[in-house]
Amino acid sequence: MSPANPIRRDSLHARLRAATDPAHQALEAGLDWQARVATRAGYRDLLARLHGFHATWEGAIGVQLADEAFLGPRRRLALLAADLDHLGLGPAAVAALPHSEAVMLDGPAAATGALYVLEGSTLGGQLIGRHIAGLHGFGETGLAYYRAHGPRTGAMWAAFRARLEDFADDPEAEAVLTAAAVATFAAMRDWLCAPHEGAAFG
Ligand code: HEM
Repeated sequence: MSPANPIRRDSLHARLRAATDPAHQALEAGLDWQARVATRAGYRDLLARLHGFHATWEGAIGVQLADEAFLGPRRRLALLAADLDHLGLGPAAVAALPHSEAVMLDGPAAATGALYVLEGSTLGGQLIGRHIAGLHGFGETGLAYYRAHGPRTGAMWAAFRARLEDFADDPEAEAVLTAAAVATFAAMRDWLCAPHEGAAFG
């Protein structure tokens, strides 16, 4: 976190971060991202899996959040499709990629918890994106997903954190939000780290 964006210790965000820290660490360890992005084929496989995850979860979050003005700029499915196209997987092949299994999110608090995971991934994603750019020489093309909000990352994250605090006075909603975030991390780990199934991911 940048010094301009300190975490208030008594915030819902601070509690959420602490509650999901083990899940973040488990995902980071299981992902083995440096090995996976070391080759273009490995990077493409990772993007294809992320595409399948975002397709399911952005859809479910959109329905339950019912706030497209807030979610729209945070959707990254089209960025994944553009990167995959750059890596040789055209629209028809992308449309045929598998999606992760359907998910039930119960209301805006659960949707916000799930979105916390997707949106938070833009933070570490900056570092991953720079690493991939250095390895494979991509500019913006081919790196749109990891570039995500680019120079606006800090501002987008601050706005998301402010949204989290809308639930801070409602312990029941906070519990739902937190459980959804933990479940999203676990689902993402299962989906991204599952053994490779032949050519299913392109
Ligand atoms: C796709 C998998 C990942 C997801 C879903 C994810 C999710 C998140 C979330 C939700 C946060 C926000 C934590 C907070 O509340 O402050 C975060 C922060 C962070 N993540 Fe990840 N993460 C992922 C992978 C990684 C990986 C592989 C790395 C290692 C490079 C990483 C490094 C970081 C860092 C450094 C931060 C803190 C950034 C900052 O405080 O400015 N993440 N991530």
